[in-house]
Amino acid sequence: MESVQDYQEKQVVSMPRIGDKAPEFKAVTTQGKINFPSDYAGEWVILFSHPADFTPVCTSEFMTFAHLEDKFKKANCKLVGLSIDGLYSHIAWLRTIKDKIKFNGMKNIEVKFPLIEDITMNVAKKYGMIQPGESETQAVRAVFFIDPKGKIRAIIYYPLSLGRNFDEIYRALIAMQVSDKHAVATPADWNPGDDVIISPAGSCGVAEERMASADELECDDWFFCTKKMDKKAVLDSIIKN
Ligand code: BEZ
Repeated sequence: MESVQDYQEKQVVSMPRIGDKAPEFKAVTTQGKINFPSDYAGEWVILFSHPADFTPVCTSEFMTFAHLEDKFKKANCKLVGLSIDGLYSHIAWLRTIKDKIKFNGMKNIEVKFPLIEDITMNVAKKYGMIQPGESETQAVRAVFFIDPKGKIRAIIYYPLSLGRNFDEIYRALIAMQVSDKHAVATPADWNPGDDVIISPAGSCGVAEERMASADELECDDWFFCTKKMDKKAVLDSIIKN
């Protein structure tokens, strides 16, 4: 029979992967109870963890996410935070942020998205947010992008000391939505308005056709074809105003 220690170790190293269904959980948050991911069906959701309440890097991140919340909402994306702290600690921290903290020109920032209490580490373990080489008691800075069907589409991990880049988080969200909507891929450093990539040809016939269709595509070789995509058209197809 499996020992308790073996069971616990397996939980700690459980790492959901891209393409997996987002692990389900029920949790208490600063905005009430949530049933994840079913409460977010039909929307994108970014589930992110931070090491602890009342810490400076985490505070700067929460202020930035709260400041950008409407921008993410317009891209059909909700935010959900998590740390291994209790509900009253979360409430006290968010009140302190609103009342006292200034960062990057922001002040009086109210965090309106849910912050999960995970004192039992139940959710953090399910999502591989506890990485014992970094910390056994604090979650690393994980970012899970979960699509409207509840599937994990991208994961980014940062160590405790490194605050996240929110331009990159937003860019990745928009790029995945553009890929889904227009059946294209996005190259290095892509941003709306830049050329997109046509997926590589899967047969000799398609390779031949690609090289011949010079008007719509630009092909440097059969495997490297790009297409112009107007910035406004891209954004109009994704962003709600
Ligand atoms: C911070 O958020 O400032 C922090 C948290 C844990 C370790 C190091 C920094």
